[in-house]
Amino acid sequence: MPYDLVVIGSGPGGYVCAIRAAQLGMKVAVVEKDKTFGGTCLNVGCIPSKALLHASELYEEAGHLFGRMGIKVGQRGLDLAAMMKFKDEGVEGNVKGVAFLFKKNKIDTFQGVGRIVAPGKVEVKPAEGKTETLESKAVVIATGSDVARLPGIDIDEKRVVSSTGALVLDKVPERLLVIGAGVIGLELGSVWRRLGSEVIVVEFLDRILPGMDNEVCRQFQRLLERQGIAFKLSSKVTAVDAAGNRLKATVEPAAGGTAETIAADVVLVAVGRGPFTEGLGLEALGVNRDGKGRVVVDARFATNVPGIYAIGDVIAGPMLAHKAEDEGVAVAEIVAGQAGHVNYDVIPNVVYTYPEIASVGKSEEELKADGIGYAVGKFPFTANGRAKVNLQTEGFVKILADAKTDRVLGVHIVGADAGNMIAEAAVAMEFGAASEDIARTCHAHPTLTEAVKEAALAVGKRSIHM
Ligand code: FAD
Ligand code: NAI
Repeated sequence: MPYDLVVIGSGPGGYVCAIRAAQLGMKVAVVEKDKTFGGTCLNVGCIPSKALLHASELYEEAGHLFGRMGIKVGQRGLDLAAMMKFKDEGVEGNVKGVAFLFKKNKIDTFQGVGRIVAPGKVEVKPAEGKTETLESKAVVIATGSDVARLPGIDIDEKRVVSSTGALVLDKVPERLLVIGAGVIGLELGSVWRRLGSEVIVVEFLDRILPGMDNEVCRQFQRLLERQGIAFKLSSKVTAVDAAGNRLKATVEPAAGGTAETIAADVVLVAVGRGPFTEGLGLEALGVNRDGKGRVVVDARFATNVPGIYAIGDVIAGPMLAHKAEDEGVAVAEIVAGQAGHVNYDVIPNVVYTYPEIASVGKSEEELKADGIGYAVGKFPFTANGRAKVNLQTEGFVKILADAKTDRVLGVHIVGADAGNMIAEAAVAMEFGAASEDIARTCHAHPTLTEAVKEAALAVGKRSIHM
């Protein structure tokens, strides 16, 4: 009997889509080329990076904060192999969780490379053994993304690494040169800086984290510099010479000019990611892609070929696990005849450094560019009781509200636990809240979330603790 839905790829987009489709009564199969389920996110992305960020943050605290809090432990030491094992166990638990959920939801799984040979026909080619063909009413492409490379710089995943190699280094590099001050560069740069590396970040643009609110990024850069990360902005790496014991990176001003050489033990290439469609057979099918190679879909995630849909990193939009998940749910509901929908105006974005950065909605720059009048309410963590007592006073909350209607248009947080705090803002925005609504909501004391309430009060120039 043919399937109702075959999903190619088991990352957060694909596995969530398969589960939602099964919940809706569909007969579902998932095709995954890798040995484990969970895609980039669970195997070499969100989960292992957050495990190392968590462990290295505690290591840092043990070195600096414990003493101030009167905690005496023996000499702090690093067992990198044990830290990597801790990370790997976290990954294993998560990928096994996906396998469990597939079984629980009676989803058939096929290991091998999936290729769409015709609408409704997916060929699965395993590493060994026989190729088989699955028949399905609908096919969802959820094949994700892969590391973007720089011409002339070969990634060997040992000394010149992508994020994947940077998650498995067996030695703390004396000096780590990071190319790209985006999310990966700053998160993994933070991990290795905390574990003892000297970290230099080379960024092409004149700012870090392009796309994020400028004020947030300026303050964040200062905080990272204070932690010991050095930045070379408006610069590019044009070559990495791997001939000697140490790597030699050629760094030039972005606009051209005199080059300098920076020696490093490891170079991390973190200049973005691109859609992954290799081997899917899209050319033969005539599935449209855009200039960046992303599969083009309409508002219902349908490609130009009937019965073929696409979601997640392989289509346009932010390359985030939760965006892929929400699209997975939406497309499953659409295929089932329901009204699946993703609100792209309210997708939170979190950088899991210390402090964290979290944002949802528009930045000041975007509002200015759109000509929308807005009021700003800001509150620093230095004035928050819990932050003070926890010694976590770095950063602030900024709320941007429509000047006429007071509707919340954007929320930006730099601070400890910002990633958890942004959820409140997302819910408020999803319900079309005004800053007044947040300001009048009772927030527990003493919590960092009181800073969100105070920022909302500050929109009307009436914060209490400032
Ligand atoms: P993927 O997770 O890439 O999954 C695609 C799957 O498809 C893979 O398993 C692949 O093997 C499989 N596949 C591809 N082609 C075929 C084929 N032809 N046949 C069979 N299988 C195929 N996002 C966040 O939101 N928060 C984070 O903290 C975060 N941290 C990250 C850290 C790092 C280091 C990286 C690299 C990424 C991080 N991301 C994070 C981004 C996140 O991982 C991606 O946005 C997310 O994984 C995209 O999900 P997806 O389902 O579209 O694709
Ligand atoms: P990115 O797009 O976030 O950042 C890449 C950076 O490299 C940019 O600042 C860009 O200007 C710079 N750059 C590009 N070419 C360059 C060059 N030649 N020289 C110097 N700098 C150059 O990409 P990144 O960090 O690789 O992450 C990829 C994706 O993974 C992101 O889109 C992100 O959404 C996702 N991700 C999300 C995380 C999270 O949500 N916490 C964590 C890690 C990754």
